[in-house]
Amino acid sequence: MVATAIEDLAPRSEDEVRAHLSSGKLVEGLQHMSPLYLQGIRRILTVSADTEFVSAPAYLRAAQHAPALNNFGSAMSIVQDELAHAHIGYRLLGDLGVDMDWLIYERPAAEFKYPYAFDVPLDSWIDLVCANALYDQAGYVLLSDVYESSTFGPWKRALAKVDKEETFHLRHGRTWLKKLVKDPAEKAKVQASLDWMFVLTLEWFGLPDDRKRHGIQLEYGFKGKSNDELRQAWMAAVVPFMDELGIDVPAHWDGERWSIDCPFPRAFDEDTKTWGEEITWDDVIRRWKARGPMNEAYVEKLQRGYRTTNFRRAG
Ligand SMILES: [Fe+2]
Ligand SMILES: [Fe+2]
Repeated sequence: MVATAIEDLAPRSEDEVRAHLSSGKLVEGLQHMSPLYLQGIRRILTVSADTEFVSAPAYLRAAQHAPALNNFGSAMSIVQDELAHAHIGYRLLGDLGVDMDWLIYERPAAEFKYPYAFDVPLDSWIDLVCANALYDQAGYVLLSDVYESSTFGPWKRALAKVDKEETFHLRHGRTWLKKLVKDPAEKAKVQASLDWMFVLTLEWFGLPDDRKRHGIQLEYGFKGKSNDELRQAWMAAVVPFMDELGIDVPAHWDGERWSIDCPFPRAFDEDTKTWGEEITWDDVIRRWKARGPMNEAYVEKLQRGYRTTNFRRAG
């Protein structure tokens, strides 16, 4: 449960926050926040921390298929990084009056706010390195935007380190993919993984700009770019690399922008990991809200130790 009402924690008025930001100052803590600022920064921090947190069991599952022990070691260092990234976000949320035990260990699985893509299992080493190339690239695009634009000082400063580690994760993916595509049989497997993963990562950036108003997110500087701008930035990084590898992805540069070459948004069959006909964003939101196959198992794995040990904070 959230310990104290937002209004009691955030003493400033919306006008005072606007004046503070327009003078070029960062927000350093609750003392500089208004209720709307606090609500907004909590929301974006929760999505970010949840995404980092759930990537750990998702990557751990796939790492079991590592071809050699030293490869398993590289995957484990990525898993460790992700848990540390999650810790940064949750710790900041603790400073912003959120009950961390509830947030991390007691919250029902369905209330976690990470992208739907992580609810679809990574079943092989190839799935893992493809996820490093696609999902960690998405994380990098989103967090670089926060790093450049965020008005919340403590998060902005912490991201200097996170950004470097995400670079390592996506380089891990890219190095592996370059090696794998030299063998036609492995290349076919890479193609098969990317076929289900690419569109899931396009969805990651959320509703298109004509469906979503970003007002407060951009005005208060929780982020700098809109959803569509972030989706474009991700395609600008991923599509040319896939072209270079000879892997087909349904997007191309049309001279002005990155254009998606398949129905989008699109129906997804979770059991076969295959894509179907074009659907509406309302259909996508329904699928996201229902969560996917791994949601409960991953959250259970993350919360299990809390239930079997006695590390709770004293009341
Ligand atoms: Fe991360
Ligand atoms: Fe990562």
